[in-house]
Amino acid sequence: MSRRRPAARDEGPDPVTDPELLRQRALDALTTARDRTALLTSCIDDRELTSQHSPLMSPLVWDLAHIGNQEEQWLLRAVAGRDAIRPEIDSIYDAFEHPRAARPSLPLLAPAEARRYAADVRGRVLDVLEKIPLHGRPLLDAAFAFGMIAQHEQQHDETMLITHQLRSGPAALTAPEPPRADTTGLRDEVLVPGGPFTMGTSTEPWALDNERPAHRRDVAAFHIDTAPVTCGAYLRFMEDGGYEQQRWWAEPGWEQIRTHGIRAPLFWHQDGGQWLRRRFGVVEAVPLDEPVLHVSWYEADAYARWAGRRLPSEAEWEKAARHDPVSGRSRRYPWGDEDPTAERANLGQHHLRPAPAGSYPAGESPHGVRQLTGDVWEWTSSDFLPYPGFAAFPYREYSEVFFGSDHKVLRGGSFAVDEVACRGTFRNWDLPVRRQIFSGFRTARDA
Ligand code: AVJ
Ligand code: FE
Repeated sequence: MSRRRPAARDEGPDPVTDPELLRQRALDALTTARDRTALLTSCIDDRELTSQHSPLMSPLVWDLAHIGNQEEQWLLRAVAGRDAIRPEIDSIYDAFEHPRAARPSLPLLAPAEARRYAADVRGRVLDVLEKIPLHGRPLLDAAFAFGMIAQHEQQHDETMLITHQLRSGPAALTAPEPPRADTTGLRDEVLVPGGPFTMGTSTEPWALDNERPAHRRDVAAFHIDTAPVTCGAYLRFMEDGGYEQQRWWAEPGWEQIRTHGIRAPLFWHQDGGQWLRRRFGVVEAVPLDEPVLHVSWYEADAYARWAGRRLPSEAEWEKAARHDPVSGRSRRYPWGDEDPTAERANLGQHHLRPAPAGSYPAGESPHGVRQLTGDVWEWTSSDFLPYPGFAAFPYREYSEVFFGSDHKVLRGGSFAVDEVACRGTFRNWDLPVRRQIFSGFRTARDA
């Protein structure tokens, strides 16, 4: 039996409160994440698992035990009140104590030991999940802590996929090609009329602290691209001397491309007259109709300025993605309140690349914008800041310590992120110089 409480007037549907359904969802989310983790850490050998493929990333074996350690800390100790299984390893897997570059020299658990530890934690967690009441404490309401830990593991699965992309050597992963949709008649941009909408959420049960609370935002009318900017469009910027003309670049971005000799997206190189890219160990021609990937915020911002446009703000992005002009409500996803499917979005590492720009018509928003969920993370013009009424939960180090002007917000989710970690309200953030992430963008302009 489900006890329902009414959702806010202009927010999504009533949240699920049936404990058996919540238990099943938590189990599914945890299992999906672990299956992915197992794949990402079993397709290369122990030497590659323990070595560092880039100073930007941890050795994969660190991610593996960190996933288990976070799960132990939250679901066994905080939720179930259990004693630590191996208290001596907490500090090794504390992301704030050791920067990524320093992690290879830590006394890490060896691959077999790390797998055993994560599996041991998971076994105990599943026992807890079977019996524990899913209400009465903020961490347990709607199985929040279980959803949070499934999201944490999926976030690291995306991080680990980035490590796979950075590693050299032959391909270790393969996946089928994403679908290609008919895009005849698709306009380049659409108008989103001005007016208030509801941003963020107070009802989505597994929304993280930075997505809360729901609040009204007034947004002036603007135009936004119906699809992310393609490699072909980005090549025109490059061929027009985009990387040679300081006028397109924000100062620190200009300095970054000068210092490091950057003149193309990360993983691209020129061979004769042709632009090639390396993608998970395979070198291929740059696909002109695919959303551009592996660009920094500065590159996205420079391209937009060159094109006579600008990046959308985070509020504009969310309004284009969630606002339903007929009901006035904000949806859970661009297509409605129903969960993602393979027809609606490119998510979950089922394909190891974005689909061509304009794909996924079934995932279109009411304003006619495509590929907002999945494919590529989209840089916005906005700094990562708390919403009015923000309260850190359950730990300050998830979001609060990153608020400020150092980090820019990315929205929408890439092909590498699982649906549990990319609601319409989900917020990602990174430093504006970052390019190894699965980042692209779309542009906007004032109406
Ligand atoms: C939300 C992707 C920026 O990877 O730094 C993982 C997610 N936080 N473990 C990150 C996260 C703690 C976070 N991002
Ligand atoms: Fe983490």
